[in-house]
Amino acid sequence: VVLILDYGSQYTQLITRRVRELCMFSMLFPGDASLDRIKSVNPRVVILSGGPNSVHVEGSPRVPDGFFEYCAENKVPVLGICYGMQMITHLLGGEVKPAVHGGEYGRMPMDITPASQLFDFIAAPTVNVWMSHGDEAVKLPDGFTAVAKSHQGAIVAIEAPERQIYGFQFHPEVMHTEHGMEMIKHFLVGIAKVSADWNMGQVLEEQLQKIAEQVGPEEHAICALSGGVDSTVAATLVHKVLGDRLHCVFVDNGLLRLNEQQRVMDTFNNHLHLPVTCVDHSKVMLARLAGVSDPEAKRKAIGAEFIEVFKNYANELEAKLGKKPKFLVQGTLYPDVIESCPPPGSGQKHSHTIKSHHNVGGLPKDLQFTLIEPFRELFKDEVRAVGRLLGVPEQFIKRHPFPGPGLAVRVLGDVTDGNKLDTLREVDEIFVNTIREYGLYDDIWQAFAVFLPVKAVGVQGDQRTHSHVVALRAVTSADGMTADWYSFTPAFLRDVSNRICNKVRSVNRVVYDITSKPPGTIEWE
Ligand code: XMP
Repeated sequence: VVLILDYGSQYTQLITRRVRELCMFSMLFPGDASLDRIKSVNPRVVILSGGPNSVHVEGSPRVPDGFFEYCAENKVPVLGICYGMQMITHLLGGEVKPAVHGGEYGRMPMDITPASQLFDFIAAPTVNVWMSHGDEAVKLPDGFTAVAKSHQGAIVAIEAPERQIYGFQFHPEVMHTEHGMEMIKHFLVGIAKVSADWNMGQVLEEQLQKIAEQVGPEEHAICALSGGVDSTVAATLVHKVLGDRLHCVFVDNGLLRLNEQQRVMDTFNNHLHLPVTCVDHSKVMLARLAGVSDPEAKRKAIGAEFIEVFKNYANELEAKLGKKPKFLVQGTLYPDVIESCPPPGSGQKHSHTIKSHHNVGGLPKDLQFTLIEPFRELFKDEVRAVGRLLGVPEQFIKRHPFPGPGLAVRVLGDVTDGNKLDTLREVDEIFVNTIREYGLYDDIWQAFAVFLPVKAVGVQGDQRTHSHVVALRAVTSADGMTADWYSFTPAFLRDVSNRICNKVRSVNRVVYDITSKPPGTIEWE
């Protein structure tokens, strides 16, 4: 594993992904992870990320005591990026100071030492890189040499080949850095000698084996299917090992989109041939949500109800099989469990709960199942690749994500008040159908409508109206961790807004959400 320690840079996730793109397994731990935790994954390489801190600020994050000794003893190469390089310099006896010229931000040419280990594959003497730093290394620790200088005179790359410690002051992981990806590859493959042999076929084999070991030959498992890619691929994978000892359930929680129950059940029966039972829990769920308007309270209540359904379902199976299923299969993804440092300036503390994703934060402590989560370490695009290997039809693979709490996180406030859910269903259907009609569905990560808790004045048929406002949201993303709003043409927006206001009686205003993530999240709650 290539271990990345996160010191809060907005680019840390990108490093994790870049390493995986190079076919090496990478994991991200918070920067203050203990030495025991680091040792537990037996890293082949450690990358220290950038971050908004200065090493001079008291309490600024740093590697645990004994970290460099551990890496030296076990021949684990270390690469520091930006703050990571400053931390290496500072902790190993060099000196870091605020830059006299005020820092370097954005594009900056640097002159490299061609004979250095880090750059011996680059022919050009000067390379344009992407910087973002106010402090810089002015004196290097013993055994280190400066192997690149910026055109402002700053030391921007260092190496100590004997000690196997390296540093970049710039960000090789961002696309604006020339040869950036090659620099990462050269470090990992050429210097650290990590083999690039991690691929989805291997992940699949490992998971099949792990499930076979985890679940005894007589044991049963249940899996909640949502119709989305994660749970569908998870169920298909587990089904390969357990066969009819896997019992899938689709829960109608009353928070589904228009005709979703029939659509999903039809697709399961006609295309996937997974045995699925449909449980209608909508009345109970909506009764439980009545009067609940706080987003986290809603999420927790929904998570708890889901667990009730699973328990009841397990009891029914016990009566039928004479044995209670011990395991619960979930399509939890890496972004759901990642303990990343918050973005600088967000005001959040480390490991702050932004949302209780129902399949992670919302589970009760006394859960009576052992979880099987084959994708806990994968990003969504990786799960899609596993799904393709398993022969899951494209219509599942390409389906936009739909959150477990369903429309509850898209009706702001109390979802049961009036017919908000029905209005939202109508609007959402028009929006997504229009996107399909324009051939845009596969260009977009996720598109949906949001019901806002406000009314606006309008004029329809010469009459004053005081009706609902809906927001449309469509985003592009690679993994749901960061996202940008989708740039529709004005003609599309005009068309979809007309369709909605003409067809949905209680809506007289449509707005389009132009917020990226961060600062927004994809869902509104
Ligand atoms: P946010 O809103 O956190 O969403 O930016 C990121 C991605 O996760 C989906 N999402 C969920 N998925 N259970 C899920 O299975 C949840 O509770 C949940 N909340 C958000 C969201 O739709 C987006 O794709």
